[in-house]
Amino acid sequence: MNSEVKTKNTYNEDLNWRYATKKFDSRKEISEEDLNTLLESVQLSASSYGLQPYEVIVVKDQKIREKLKAAAWNQTQVTDASYLMVFANLTHVNEAYVNTYLDNIAETRNMSREDLKGMEDMIRNTTLQLPADAQNTWAAKQAYIALGNLLSAAASQKIDACPMEGFDAAKFDEILGLKDRNLTTAVIAPIGYRSEDDQYQHLTKVRKSKSDLIEII
Ligand SMILES: Cc1cc2nc3c(=O)[nH]c(=O)nc-3n(C[C@H](O)[C@H](O)[C@H](O)COP(=O)(O)O)c2cc1C
Repeated sequence: MNSEVKTKNTYNEDLNWRYATKKFDSRKEISEEDLNTLLESVQLSASSYGLQPYEVIVVKDQKIREKLKAAAWNQTQVTDASYLMVFANLTHVNEAYVNTYLDNIAETRNMSREDLKGMEDMIRNTTLQLPADAQNTWAAKQAYIALGNLLSAAASQKIDACPMEGFDAAKFDEILGLKDRNLTTAVIAPIGYRSEDDQYQHLTKVRKSKSDLIEII
């Protein structure tokens, strides 16, 4: 088997290894180095225009997590994992935010803002024009891409995670003080190590067949 094929298979093996962990082993901690690698994967996520209209809050503090758990149907993953990652999208994307982003491109790539005029106009005529609700939805979609990256990256490091939508976003926003920061909770993911007695790890994956899922035309 050539190394390219082997890498592809290993990736899918990792995806098969992962599962939405229901019970974490609270005694096992993710190392700082592993956490940083994971956060870098999240940082590298693709997003529309590259705007990354979200922030990721990594919650370690147990007192805060106890409050968050109560706002997440008491799901124990929130407190038992090593960290809770909260993906919070921008509620409104405004001109100032876009300008900061364009300045960053210009500086990073040693370009003038004039060179970026085409891109600026495109963002102005699309994202900035969206009605408030649609903008929020658009921003949340970008945050979910980062969540997907986190899940795959975690699996490749044999770190467990659970994507979660089972929480009250308004309560999360209040506990984390997100509203004043123009942010709202989109989705969360505890990360850590599975408990040996989490029976879910032994379940066979249930997925649509490739023929039901994929159409090649
Ligand atoms: C966006 C999203 C929200 C989810 N919310 C929860 C949740 O609140 N609690 C939970 O235990 N699992 C949650 N899950 C896990 C799914 O139930 C799980 O991913 C699905 O059954 C497939 O199983 P697998 O991930 O173990 O392969 C969520 C998954 C996704 C992608």
